[in-house]
Amino acid sequence: MQIDLQNSTLSSASVQKSRDARKILESHSGSGHDFLGWLQLPEEQSAHVQDYLKIASDLQKMDAVVMVGIGGSYLGFKCLYESLKPPVGASVGPEILFAGHSLDGHYHHQLLEYLEDRDFGVVVISKSGTTTEPAIAFRLLWSLLVKKHGASGAASRVCAITDANKGTLRKSADELGFHSAIIADDVGGRFSVLSPVGLIPAAIAGIDIYSLLQGSMEMCDHLRNDESENNPAVQYSAYRNSLYEEGKKIEILVYYQHALQYFAEWWKQLFGESEGKQGKGIFPASAGFTTDLHSLGQWIQESERSIFQTILDVEEARSPVLSKQDNDGDGLNYLAGKTVHEVNRVALQATRQAHGEGGVPSLRIKIPSIQEFQMGRLFYFFEYACGISAYALGVNPFDQPGVEAYKNSMFKMLGKPGH
Ligand code: PA5
Repeated sequence: MQIDLQNSTLSSASVQKSRDARKILESHSGSGHDFLGWLQLPEEQSAHVQDYLKIASDLQKMDAVVMVGIGGSYLGFKCLYESLKPPVGASVGPEILFAGHSLDGHYHHQLLEYLEDRDFGVVVISKSGTTTEPAIAFRLLWSLLVKKHGASGAASRVCAITDANKGTLRKSADELGFHSAIIADDVGGRFSVLSPVGLIPAAIAGIDIYSLLQGSMEMCDHLRNDESENNPAVQYSAYRNSLYEEGKKIEILVYYQHALQYFAEWWKQLFGESEGKQGKGIFPASAGFTTDLHSLGQWIQESERSIFQTILDVEEARSPVLSKQDNDGDGLNYLAGKTVHEVNRVALQATRQAHGEGGVPSLRIKIPSIQEFQMGRLFYFFEYACGISAYALGVNPFDQPGVEAYKNSMFKMLGKPGH
């Protein structure tokens, strides 16, 4: 993982703070240390790949599979799916659909109507087994399955990924005989993409989960064994915390490939929920260039100077080549022989330079290509860097007490017993 910083400097004190934070993470001595199970997931989960492929092969027989979950029980697989599926046209295998990631009535109405004539399966993912949005969606989907196939036919079409003991979902899974997998107690939602939460849906979608884990394992070995200041996770943490101290309160994750749109959504949850507490924390935002240069570009170039960018630079991609035309009516012959991807990377360099001159420092993270192995590396990199960065900021990376406030208020208004 190569990171470089433009238009800013990095103090040695900030690097030292992040190195100390890495020690806190590795020695399990920081707050939230009961939630460090994700550190070992790449190796540990490799032993379960065959079980996950078996569950996947049953669900792959369906016309469609609906993935039900929200937050950390949604974004990891959504990101994988959007990154690795063909950008245009249908994928091989069952159609992949999502539910329970919102309370959008119209969306769920259309979904149920669409599924009426299809043989579908459901993967319901909820660590707590009690989250309102997925619970509502699952109730609706389960009723439709039972109407179509009876209780035992319905149960054979469901996989529940949840806690080993707690929660109503575990109870239903055990009583009704769903396929099921366990989310370990010490793995929090936003750190769970490399657990069954991300791996089973990915296997159903035909994603190579073995390569995904191999990539994450490589990154895990690298980051956990490098105690130096050159550890890229330490560097990323040091860069962003020192920019934050200089008044850069917003970090924009910038991608230049549509495929990475949901990677940015996953990243925003990871850093937003891990760091945004106790009146502190960088606001994680995202932008897809060059598309958003035609909407947000003005703001980024000339607004209040409170932002910095972290740019995902994909080095290799399949891409069409521009040909020379006899009639250069569109004036593009100067680009003849270049691929669209090459033009995109020039846009990246040029935009970085222009934004830098406009007072926006940027980090660039190079990614060789978008495929399973590299996605595995990226997930582990950002999770590890997030743990370090939050400790360097002085907060517990693994809790999210602020998320309860809206829930309590909503339950009160809806008349939930006990509220
Ligand atoms: O990161 C988190 O912990 C949250 O985003 C949860 O994943 C989300 O609230 C869903 O929780 P659960 O899996 O218990 O349904």
